[in-house]
Amino acid sequence: MSESTIESGLQEKRVFYPSAEFSSQAQVKSLDEYQQLYDRAQADPQTFWAELAEQELHWFQPWHTVLDWQPPFAQWFVGGQTNVSYNCLDRHLTTWRRNKAALIWEGEPGDSRTLTYAQLHREVCQFANALKQLGVGKGDVVGIYMPMIPEAAIAMLACARIGAPHSVVFGGFSAEAVRDRLADGKAKLVVTADGGWRKDAIVPLKTQVDRAIADGAVPTVENVLVVRRTGQDIDMQPGRDHWWHDLQPTVSADCPAEPMDSEDVLFVLYTSGSTGKPKGVVHTTAGYNLYAHMTTKWIFDLQDTDVYWCTADVGWITGHSYIVYGPLSNGATSVMYEGAPRPSNPGCFWDVVEKYGVTIFYTAPTAIRAFIKMGSDLPQARDLSSLRLLGTVGEPINPEAWMWYHTVIGKERCPIVDTWWQTETGGVMITPLPGATPTKPGSATRPLPGILADVVDLDGNSVPDNEGGYLVVRHPWPGMMRTVYGDPDRFRRTYWEHIPPKDGRYLYFAGDGARRDEDGYFWVMGRVDDVINVAGHRLGTMEIESALVSHPAVAEAAVVGRPDEVKGNEIVAFVTLESDQEPTEELAKALKKHVGQEIGAIARPGDIRFSDALPKTRSGKIMRRLLRSIASGQEVSGDTSTLEDRSVLDKLRGGA
Ligand code: WT7
Repeated sequence: MSESTIESGLQEKRVFYPSAEFSSQAQVKSLDEYQQLYDRAQADPQTFWAELAEQELHWFQPWHTVLDWQPPFAQWFVGGQTNVSYNCLDRHLTTWRRNKAALIWEGEPGDSRTLTYAQLHREVCQFANALKQLGVGKGDVVGIYMPMIPEAAIAMLACARIGAPHSVVFGGFSAEAVRDRLADGKAKLVVTADGGWRKDAIVPLKTQVDRAIADGAVPTVENVLVVRRTGQDIDMQPGRDHWWHDLQPTVSADCPAEPMDSEDVLFVLYTSGSTGKPKGVVHTTAGYNLYAHMTTKWIFDLQDTDVYWCTADVGWITGHSYIVYGPLSNGATSVMYEGAPRPSNPGCFWDVVEKYGVTIFYTAPTAIRAFIKMGSDLPQARDLSSLRLLGTVGEPINPEAWMWYHTVIGKERCPIVDTWWQTETGGVMITPLPGATPTKPGSATRPLPGILADVVDLDGNSVPDNEGGYLVVRHPWPGMMRTVYGDPDRFRRTYWEHIPPKDGRYLYFAGDGARRDEDGYFWVMGRVDDVINVAGHRLGTMEIESALVSHPAVAEAAVVGRPDEVKGNEIVAFVTLESDQEPTEELAKALKKHVGQEIGAIARPGDIRFSDALPKTRSGKIMRRLLRSIASGQEVSGDTSTLEDRSVLDKLRGGA
């Protein structure tokens, strides 16, 4: 855990109430109604979730035990059988939704495609049959390294259909990062594309896969299924690599969904922690499905006419839960956009809203801050009158950005849901309900029904109102991660032992600092471990340090975050060089590039600072608190008495 203390932040006094019009038509219409749900769930969580599971999902076989809790290992709906792909597709086909748009996709170059539920179902069945033909069966892990095209969602749903856990790797990760993740998951097949569009350039995805699995680096991979997207020439290795467009005409569109046990693994998704390599977060079938379904329904207040758009990438949990599984399980229309605001098209998001009449828009604070910089003219020149609800996710939103979102995008009409959650939680945990909860700019407000969140000290005792502490959850919930893939001990240590268990009481430790105000509203302050949130992406300092140290010129490295106006944080790396190396501009550039190659462009340090030595305690621990102050140009304050060599500090300060 980091040595930084949690500060209580400024008090934000503004409160915004949902309009009577919005509330009267909402799923949850008032704070009273929310409170009743909350109290009912708290009094008897198992009955609460069981009733919803029965009402909201299709089951091939009912469960016999709602929750089996062997701390910290939970099993939900034990004995039951269901299928996530069935819940997202098949069950809508016998209703009017059969011909409703399931996915509306817009490509970066301006091409587009709409798939109705019936069409999506057909393609998923074909894709599932192609996977089977290539030897994938129940329990085999499938890597998915794709651009934001419909086939990414199709591949995920096809895996879910046949019970093959997917492991989606964000298309912005490097070949090395792909290799580590495929190897850890022992993937049997990889789904990829020839390339993807990203900011007017082609990302050579297939070439990266070739590199990742070259020389038997991931011996479990037998086949690579390639979707044509960008059309450039790529190498296809006979026997191993297969074009989707060659297979599609040869496979049947008949593929019944495999009944899956509630606790069968649905997917693994890697995320950065404070130590070592990324963790494979494991989510299972029924609990995850129910949680993604319910949270989508409550938070986005889905109505049949909504056009819902979450701007995340399917490579992150937000894309899993709130582009694919949550919306489709609810029979909603989900917009998928390949592009990103870029110099050639800074207004593209607002064009998409206008073109499709988007009613619900869910994005990240970092994007909102970038929009503010680009100017209000861009959104003001588009017709955004279809919007009725706005959301944010991924990092704390500063009140200024919240107010801009509220006035310029929401025209003071749309509730804003600031949703706090994590890869590990499967779905949103703390959030306003748009028709019920008065909002305060910068607060994620209150926990959802069934979520017993708290702010505690290191002994697990609740701290008084408005005092900083650690964000924890006191009771298991259906969407929680079940384990770290292949490493249950790491799961226990990372999430359940930071706050030592006591008398059978286990607290889920989120790794965030927070305070709760006198209205019970949560204010999440950010990570308290060695994780840096850069533009809503979560990066482990250790991973970046390892990447730096793997460069031959580097002797030692320490990475910290520095506040950044748009990205939230910027990565600053302090580097000591091998004795035969000179600190030059070129070397700094080369090191940034090296990190990009080792992990991906999102992990590239914004600033490399060379120094002769790093500040360490007498026991040899790098004092990051000092480095953080130096990186952000602040006076070094607080206790420096454990610093081993004071002259190091003076030198660093002089250099900064
Ligand atoms: C971390 C989780 C969950 C989707 C995207 C990120 C930070 C997330 C908020 C919010 C303040 C937030 C936390 C959390 N975070 N949402 N609304 N307010 N902080 O998922 O990569 O697993 O990162 O993102 O620090 O622990 P993730």
